[in-house]
Amino acid sequence: MMMSDWNIILTGFMGTGKSSVGKLLAQRLGYQFVDTDKLIEARCGRAVHEIFREQGEAAFREMEAALAGELGAVEKQVIATGGRLMLDAANADNLSRKGRVFALWATPEEIIARVTKDTIAVRPLLAGPAPEVRIRALYEERRAGYARFTPVRTSGKTIAEVVQVLVDHIAASEE
Ligand code: S3P
Repeated sequence: MMMSDWNIILTGFMGTGKSSVGKLLAQRLGYQFVDTDKLIEARCGRAVHEIFREQGEAAFREMEAALAGELGAVEKQVIATGGRLMLDAANADNLSRKGRVFALWATPEEIIARVTKDTIAVRPLLAGPAPEVRIRALYEERRAGYARFTPVRTSGKTIAEVVQVLVDHIAASEE
Protein backbone atom coordinates (compact mmCIF):
# COMPACT_ATOMS: atom_id res chain seq x y z
CA MET A 1 0.00 0.00 0.00
CA MET A 2 1.36 3.38 -0.94
CA MET A 3 1.77 6.01 1.73
CA SER A 4 -0.56 8.20 -0.36
CA ASP A 5 -3.44 5.80 0.30
CA TRP A 6 -3.00 6.04 4.04
CA ASN A 7 -5.71 7.38 6.25
CA ILE A 8 -5.12 10.57 8.16
CA ILE A 9 -6.25 10.29 11.74
CA LEU A 10 -6.88 13.36 13.86
CA THR A 11 -6.82 13.19 17.62
CA GLY A 12 -6.60 15.81 20.34
CA PHE A 13 -8.63 17.25 23.16
CA MET A 14 -12.27 18.25 22.75
CA GLY A 15 -12.50 21.60 20.99
CA THR A 16 -9.18 21.45 19.18
CA GLY A 17 -10.96 21.47 15.81
CA LYS A 18 -10.64 17.83 14.72
CA SER A 19 -13.98 17.77 12.89
CA SER A 20 -13.75 21.18 11.19
CA VAL A 21 -10.14 20.63 10.17
CA GLY A 22 -10.81 17.05 9.12
CA LYS A 23 -13.67 18.00 6.85
CA LEU A 24 -11.62 20.59 5.00
CA LEU A 25 -8.53 18.38 4.88
CA ALA A 26 -10.57 15.58 3.30
CA GLN A 27 -11.73 18.00 0.60
CA ARG A 28 -8.16 19.09 -0.09
CA LEU A 29 -6.89 15.50 -0.35
CA GLY A 30 -9.93 14.13 -2.18
CA TYR A 31 -10.47 11.69 0.67
CA GLN A 32 -13.65 10.59 2.40
CA PHE A 33 -14.30 12.21 5.75
CA VAL A 34 -15.38 10.22 8.80
CA ASP A 35 -16.16 11.60 12.23
CA THR A 36 -16.31 8.79 14.78
CA ASP A 37 -18.78 10.57 17.08
CA LYS A 38 -21.10 11.31 14.15
CA LEU A 39 -20.88 7.77 12.81
CA ILE A 40 -21.72 6.30 16.21
CA GLU A 41 -24.62 8.75 16.53
CA ALA A 42 -25.94 7.83 13.08
CA ARG A 43 -25.76 4.13 13.82
CA CYS A 44 -27.35 4.42 17.25
CA GLY A 45 -29.94 6.95 16.21
CA ARG A 46 -29.10 9.10 19.21
CA ALA A 47 -26.61 11.74 20.28
CA VAL A 48 -23.40 10.92 22.16
CA HIS A 49 -24.69 12.58 25.33
CA GLU A 50 -27.84 10.45 25.13
CA ILE A 51 -25.74 7.30 24.75
CA PHE A 52 -23.76 8.32 27.84
CA ARG A 53 -26.95 8.94 29.77
CA GLU A 54 -28.93 5.91 28.65
CA GLN A 55 -26.24 3.27 28.20
CA GLY A 56 -23.32 4.68 30.16
CA GLU A 57 -19.84 5.80 29.16
CA ALA A 58 -18.48 2.22 29.08
CA ALA A 59 -20.98 1.29 26.35
CA PHE A 60 -19.88 4.30 24.30
CA ARG A 61 -16.21 3.31 24.71
CA GLU A 62 -17.05 -0.19 23.45
CA MET A 63 -18.68 1.33 20.38
CA GLU A 64 -15.56 3.42 19.81
CA ALA A 65 -13.35 0.33 20.10
CA ALA A 66 -15.48 -1.61 17.61
CA LEU A 67 -15.35 1.32 15.21
CA ALA A 68 -11.56 1.66 15.56
CA GLY A 69 -11.27 -2.00 14.56
CA GLU A 70 -13.53 -1.44 11.57
CA LEU A 71 -11.81 1.75 10.40
CA GLY A 72 -8.40 0.12 10.68
CA ALA A 73 -9.23 -1.57 7.38
CA VAL A 74 -10.28 1.43 5.28
CA GLU A 75 -8.11 3.57 2.98
CA LYS A 76 -7.98 7.19 1.89
CA GLN A 77 -10.10 8.53 4.68
CA VAL A 78 -9.62 11.44 7.00
CA ILE A 79 -10.83 10.22 10.38
CA ALA A 80 -11.67 12.74 13.10
CA THR A 81 -11.76 10.79 16.34
CA GLY A 82 -13.59 11.49 19.58
CA GLY A 83 -11.28 13.06 22.16
CA ARG A 84 -10.46 9.87 24.01
CA LEU A 85 -10.54 7.25 21.26
CA MET A 86 -6.83 7.34 20.36
CA LEU A 87 -5.75 7.35 24.02
CA ASP A 88 -6.72 3.69 24.16
CA ALA A 89 -3.72 1.60 23.07
CA ALA A 90 -5.71 -1.04 21.18
CA ASN A 91 -7.69 1.64 19.30
CA ALA A 92 -4.47 3.48 18.45
CA ASP A 93 -2.88 0.26 17.17
CA ASN A 94 -5.88 -0.49 14.99
CA LEU A 95 -6.05 2.95 13.43
CA SER A 96 -2.29 3.38 13.05
CA ARG A 97 -1.92 0.29 10.91
CA LYS A 98 -2.88 2.16 7.76
CA GLY A 99 -2.80 5.71 8.91
CA ARG A 100 -0.77 8.66 10.01
CA VAL A 101 -1.91 10.20 13.26
CA PHE A 102 -1.77 13.89 14.10
CA ALA A 103 -2.70 15.42 17.43
CA LEU A 104 -4.23 18.89 17.34
CA TRP A 105 -3.30 21.10 20.27
CA ALA A 106 -4.83 24.20 21.79
CA THR A 107 -4.29 25.78 25.20
CA PRO A 108 -6.81 25.01 27.97
CA GLU A 109 -7.96 28.65 27.74
CA GLU A 110 -8.74 28.31 24.04
CA ILE A 111 -10.44 24.98 24.60
CA ILE A 112 -12.61 26.50 27.32
CA ALA A 113 -13.54 29.39 25.01
CA ARG A 114 -14.35 27.07 22.10
CA VAL A 115 -16.36 24.41 23.87
CA THR A 116 -18.40 26.84 25.91
CA LYS A 117 -19.30 28.67 22.67
CA ASP A 118 -20.17 25.44 20.87
CA THR A 119 -23.92 25.11 21.01
CA ILE A 120 -24.10 22.17 18.61
CA ALA A 121 -21.98 19.49 20.29
CA VAL A 122 -23.16 18.68 23.80
CA ARG A 123 -20.17 17.20 25.61
CA PRO A 124 -21.25 14.83 28.37
CA LEU A 125 -17.86 14.91 30.09
CA LEU A 126 -18.21 18.66 30.59
CA ALA A 127 -21.83 18.66 31.62
CA GLY A 128 -21.20 19.51 35.30
CA PRO A 129 -21.38 22.95 36.90
CA ALA A 130 -17.71 23.92 36.35
CA PRO A 131 -16.59 22.86 32.87
CA GLU A 132 -13.36 24.91 33.10
CA VAL A 133 -12.20 22.96 36.15
CA ARG A 134 -13.04 19.69 34.45
CA ILE A 135 -11.27 20.72 31.23
CA ARG A 136 -8.08 21.60 33.10
CA ALA A 137 -8.09 18.32 35.03
CA LEU A 138 -8.78 16.19 31.95
CA TYR A 139 -6.17 18.13 29.99
CA GLU A 140 -3.49 17.32 32.59
CA GLU A 141 -4.59 13.71 32.66
CA ARG A 142 -4.46 13.31 28.89
CA ARG A 143 -1.68 15.52 27.61
CA ALA A 144 0.97 12.76 27.78
CA GLY A 145 -1.32 10.51 25.76
CA TYR A 146 -1.79 13.02 22.95
CA ALA A 147 1.94 13.78 23.02
CA ARG A 148 2.65 10.34 21.52
CA PHE A 149 1.44 11.57 18.14
CA THR A 150 2.79 14.17 15.68
CA PRO A 151 1.72 17.51 17.15
CA VAL A 152 -0.01 20.32 15.25
CA ARG A 153 -0.59 23.60 17.06
CA THR A 154 -3.87 25.32 16.32
CA SER A 155 -3.42 28.39 18.54
CA GLY A 156 -3.93 31.61 16.63
CA LYS A 157 -4.53 29.70 13.39
CA THR A 158 -7.60 29.54 11.21
CA ILE A 159 -9.00 26.16 10.18
CA ALA A 160 -7.56 26.64 6.68
CA GLU A 161 -4.12 27.40 8.14
CA VAL A 162 -4.18 24.24 10.24
CA VAL A 163 -5.20 22.26 7.15
CA GLN A 164 -2.24 23.74 5.27
CA VAL A 165 0.16 22.65 8.02
CA LEU A 166 -1.22 19.12 7.72
CA VAL A 167 -1.01 19.11 3.93
CA ASP A 168 2.64 20.20 4.18
CA HIS A 169 3.43 17.46 6.71
CA ILE A 170 1.80 14.84 4.52
CA ALA A 171 3.57 16.04 1.38
CA ALA A 172 6.94 16.08 3.17
CA SER A 173 6.52 12.49 4.30
CA GLU A 174 5.83 11.37 0.73
CA GLU A 175 8.95 12.91 -0.80
C1 S3P B 1 -14.96 12.74 24.46
C2 S3P B 1 -14.92 13.59 23.38
C3 S3P B 1 -16.07 13.78 22.48
C4 S3P B 1 -16.97 12.53 22.49
C5 S3P B 1 -17.35 12.18 23.88
C6 S3P B 1 -16.15 11.92 24.78
C7 S3P B 1 -13.76 12.63 25.31
O1 S3P B 1 -15.60 14.02 21.18
O2 S3P B 1 -16.31 11.44 21.88
O3 S3P B 1 -18.10 13.24 24.38
O4 S3P B 1 -13.71 11.73 26.18
O5 S3P B 1 -12.83 13.46 25.12
P1 S3P B 1 -14.90 15.44 20.72
O6 S3P B 1 -13.46 15.35 21.05
O7 S3P B 1 -15.14 15.46 19.25
O8 S3P B 1 -15.60 16.52 21.45
